[in-house]
Amino acid sequence: MAFHPTRFWNFMARRYARSPVKDNESYQYKLGMTANYLTPQDRLLEFGCGTGTTALIHAPRVSHIDAIDFSSEMIAIAREKAEAQAVSNVRFEISSFEDWRLSEGDAGYDAILGLSILHLVTDLDATLARVYQQLKPGGLFMSSTVCIGEVGGLIRYALPPLGAIGVLPKILLLTPDMLTDGLRAHGFDIEHVWRPEEGASVFIVARRPA
Ligand SMILES: C[S@@+](CC[C@H](N)C(=O)[O-])C[C@H]1O[C@@H](n2cnc3c(N)ncnc32)[C@H](O)[C@@H]1O
Repeated sequence: MAFHPTRFWNFMARRYARSPVKDNESYQYKLGMTANYLTPQDRLLEFGCGTGTTALIHAPRVSHIDAIDFSSEMIAIAREKAEAQAVSNVRFEISSFEDWRLSEGDAGYDAILGLSILHLVTDLDATLARVYQQLKPGGLFMSSTVCIGEVGGLIRYALPPLGAIGVLPKILLLTPDMLTDGLRAHGFDIEHVWRPEEGASVFIVARRPA
């Protein structure tokens, strides 16, 4: 039977929801950095939102968030959390980013978040192009990405075959330079690049020029 990444993430969802953030200090820094760019009028998109933790944290700072994930189990948990926290300005939807479209006449989002997701997409170029297209001119794309392309050892060599035989989702072997180069090639200006240490996920703030 063919491997479906949605099945993997559905299977992982409750476990994922229970597991603590690995590096809370870095997570808090990224939350703060993101929040500095947000305004109360903003409409946000978060793709690959998982169990919704980050979207729910940013919800009080913005007007509306569309938070999407192709795993129905992840979205079920996110909706439970939104209800428990009485948050009403986040719309959690089951959708792949590939299938997500702006409605007719929609000028686009003020900001798009892609956290721990760019290494999982099937086509990075197409994803960056889609982010650009769904942002308003002047809008921001904030991403945090695992960069396995620059680490050695077991992980670097074990993950691709496990992805190829369908035990794990396919993972792109990215480096920070591949990401910044890719973003620039798609027309973005890079505003900020941060990582706590070599080998850690890289946080990038990129802007679609106005
Ligand atoms: C590593 S988790 C990250 C979740 C969350 N962003 C976080 O930082 O905790 C990756 C998530 O992306 C979702 N995902 C992977 N590829 C996707 C795609 N093409 N479209 C929408 N969601 C996707 C998975 O279902 C999973 O919930």
